[in-house]
Amino acid sequence: MRELEGRLALITGASRGLGAALAEGLGAAGMRLLLAARSGDQLEAVAEGLRAKGVEVRVALCDVADLGALQALAEIGEGELGGVDLLVNNAGIESMGSYEQLELESIARMCDVNLRAPMWLTRAVLPGMLERGRGHVLNVASLAGLAATAYGEPYAATKHGVVGFTRSLRATARARGWPVSASALCPGYVEEIGMYADMERDYGAKAKGAIGTVTPGRVVAAALRGIRKDLPDIIVAPGPMRGMLALNMLMPRFGEWASNKLGAHRVFEKVADAKQGRDS
Ligand SMILES: NC(=O)c1ccc[n+]([C@@H]2O[C@H](COP(=O)([O-])OP(=O)(O)OC[C@H]3O[C@@H](n4cnc5c(N)ncnc54)[C@H](OP(=O)(O)O)[C@@H]3O)[C@@H](O)[C@H]2O)c1
Repeated sequence: MRELEGRLALITGASRGLGAALAEGLGAAGMRLLLAARSGDQLEAVAEGLRAKGVEVRVALCDVADLGALQALAEIGEGELGGVDLLVNNAGIESMGSYEQLELESIARMCDVNLRAPMWLTRAVLPGMLERGRGHVLNVASLAGLAATAYGEPYAATKHGVVGFTRSLRATARARGWPVSASALCPGYVEEIGMYADMERDYGAKAKGAIGTVTPGRVVAAALRGIRKDLPDIIVAPGPMRGMLALNMLMPRFGEWASNKLGAHRVFEKVADAKQGRDS
């Protein structure tokens, strides 16, 4: 979707982290915003900051695990605000740990928030996009949607699901000649804001060496470029990680060995160990 100015973006998980950064970037590009999350105060603070910069913002409280709340959110965008042009499915949660100890409820919740909600919200706004003859869906996945590391089974599963969903939606759009498309945003560890920065602060989990981190600014710039250029997978990661992804596809066993050598599992391991009350 080349033209963003004046168009409406619905962003889930916009109360902090990457969602708030994406809101800032899309607002600066001239988009009108519908921001959703559960934390009203934080959401309002993000909105106020954007309004001060002249951005038109509406906020909506929404737990994306609740299908009724998602329906109400879609109705605000499609009804009251005249139609969603860009849907950013960003809300996401993680719960790293040793899989045999994870609560069943935590696995179910990750599936609901990370995978079911993006699929459902897309289904809710797609007919309107098709009717208006334009639209784009940006699904915030992760590098964990393209390659999997230890201690993050439900997270990797849901993010692989998000990537698969996005690719299939794009394929349908091409088969049907739709004027609507979709991209999967796949960042590595993001510094300063968001869930990785929280893990670093709370557990001392650090992405070292070749694994590295990316800045929020780089993620937002890549997202905007990906939306405008209609890119399929928007990979935002340090150079060596891109090589690892290719290696994983071509030589999975060697990829596993190399990923282990590089210590790709160390961040989540640190969190898992801390949750088990052990020092790693
Ligand atoms: N940070 C990273 O390094 C990184 C890397 C790759 C991918 N990602 C992905 O980026 C996305 C944003 O993550 P983040 O790092 O910015 O995490 P974050 O700082 O924890 O923010 C998560 C956002 O999702 C919202 N959210 C969580 N559960 C929700 C629910 N049930 N209903 C509605 N909103 C909900 C939160 O808002 P409320 O709590 O107010 O509801 C918050 O706004 C996620 O999909 C994540 O998987 C992050």
